[in-house]
Amino acid sequence: DLELSLRPRRLSEYIGQQKAKETISIFVEAARQRGEPLDHVLLFGPPGLGKTTLSNIIANEMAVNIRTTSGPAIERQGDLAAILTNLAPGDVLFIDEIHRLSKAVEEILYPAMEDFALDIVLGKGPGARSIRLDLPKFTLIGATTRAGMLASPLRDRFGIISRLEFYNNEDLTRIVTRAADILKVVIDRSGAEEIARRSRGTPRVANRLLKRVRDYAQVRAQGDITADVAAEALEFFEVDPLGLDHTDRRLLSSIIEKFNGGPVGLDTIAAAISEETDTVEDVLEPFLMQMGLITRTPRGRVVTPQAYKHLGIPMNRETQKGL
Ligand code: ADE
Repeated sequence: DLELSLRPRRLSEYIGQQKAKETISIFVEAARQRGEPLDHVLLFGPPGLGKTTLSNIIANEMAVNIRTTSGPAIERQGDLAAILTNLAPGDVLFIDEIHRLSKAVEEILYPAMEDFALDIVLGKGPGARSIRLDLPKFTLIGATTRAGMLASPLRDRFGIISRLEFYNNEDLTRIVTRAADILKVVIDRSGAEEIARRSRGTPRVANRLLKRVRDYAQVRAQGDITADVAAEALEFFEVDPLGLDHTDRRLLSSIIEKFNGGPVGLDTIAAAISEETDTVEDVLEPFLMQMGLITRTPRGRVVTPQAYKHLGIPMNRETQKGL
């Protein structure tokens, strides 16, 4: 599957995230030398930066199997119990969106992480008894967009906590070039740079834009991707030179037009552009903040002068006072 093959399988193929990569490689090597399972790992950062990919790489490097699930998919204690009792020693259990586990399920997870034990309650009321089952020693890898969203008893049970950062343009250019190679698309250096620049620091976006530009190049040009073809295609798809798409621009312009540049609360912004609050907070905002287009203040979100400039909207006195 071409889609899957875009994902690197080894740490040595994984581009960028130098800090996370080095951290992980030290702990993986140490655990391997001792013949022990890796300590539990928490990966956090905005979506699309490679948390799932890294988890698969960790399992590969440890030469163990990985079982993948997500917070919302584990509805009952029994769902998690079934997964845990089916793991083999050393296996990785990857829980994406771990901040969305229910309290009841989280409580099963604590003794599982700490003591590799499953506490099962038999019966109800005063006669209820609890028995403890041993679990294989496993590695939990949890992924979340914001570490602050985890209850601290859960966060504290991870021995390794690693934050993924937005990628710089150089690393994204290498990722686009590598993906083009796998997809057998001809792209020159400046074509790859153009796509990288508009990928909001995110490999998932870079790979998606590469595919859309490939389609455009095939139908509207000669098939090869140059800087001109990439720029023309991305303009056509409404991805602007900073990588903002229609939704990003709508968010900025609605704060300017409806709320005089801010400050305005998160829920209010989300309602104004008909997006989920979580989408605004986890997906849209981190990138716009990274780009210096919005800032957070105690009273809410404020767009910056750069945002006005980027959108070509003049600032008036009233909006300047708000800053
Ligand atoms: N494809 C997506 N993310 C990647 C990364 N970090 N390194 C290499 N290829 C990738």
